[in-house]
Amino acid sequence: MNVGIFDSGLGGLSVVREISQSFKGLEIFYIADTAYAPYGDKSEENILARCIKITHSLIKKHKIEALVLACNTATSAAIRELRILFPSMIVIGCEPGLKPACLLSKSSKIGVLATSLTLNGKKYQDLEKELSLSKNVSFFEQACPGLVEKIEEGNINKTKDMLTKWLLPMKNKNVDTIVLGCTHYSLVGEVIKQIMQYKITLIETSKALANRLMELSLESGHINEGLLTIEIFYTGKININMVNMIFKKQEKIILGKYEI
Ligand code: DGL
Repeated sequence: MNVGIFDSGLGGLSVVREISQSFKGLEIFYIADTAYAPYGDKSEENILARCIKITHSLIKKHKIEALVLACNTATSAAIRELRILFPSMIVIGCEPGLKPACLLSKSSKIGVLATSLTLNGKKYQDLEKELSLSKNVSFFEQACPGLVEKIEEGNINKTKDMLTKWLLPMKNKNVDTIVLGCTHYSLVGEVIKQIMQYKITLIETSKALANRLMELSLESGHINEGLLTIEIFYTGKININMVNMIFKKQEKIILGKYEI
């Protein structure tokens, strides 16, 4: 099965890594849309148009049968329309894991880090309201402008000051669970744990996304046998050291520039 996966940059590679660990017989075509990053401070209309363009390109060049939006921001802005536009294709995306956080939190105080587009999106707002009432939990949200850029540069150490400022209100509220509502933020999970100082649970959704892709692909006839290959493309710049750090010594990765 040919699978197209994209994000604004490196963040979605944690999703690719997760998928590549549980699947066989896939050809993965990943686009890091760095020419257009960050997505989080753009308008929904802008991101939707970009997602449609990327999807058309992946279908034309790589004949993809499944599309994974490895980006919470793109999912919030575009998944509904993409499913309408491409009804015969598997289309899945990622959303901040508020539900698993409610199950795991003991204090019922949950921090959420995401882009402002995701936090202000209707999808997030509706879910947050529903869970706050039905589960009697409090969510403490924080957008993180500038964080994606630092991660893309590979400046993980330089994220500490900005994260310390954003996490302080969560610390003061004694949140025991933090939802990583942007795929990039998984790459600074250790920094977040260090700053919080006490034990917290970090919630990310790449495993759930990989499981869902498995379910849908088996339903559509994928036999899950044979080689898995990953090709990574980028539209702007990419930090190859960061790519190597994410994949360690895992399988073949071909890097190339992509024109959309
Ligand atoms: N990694 C993305 C997400 O999950 C996008 C971040 C951005 O480009 O602002 O939301």
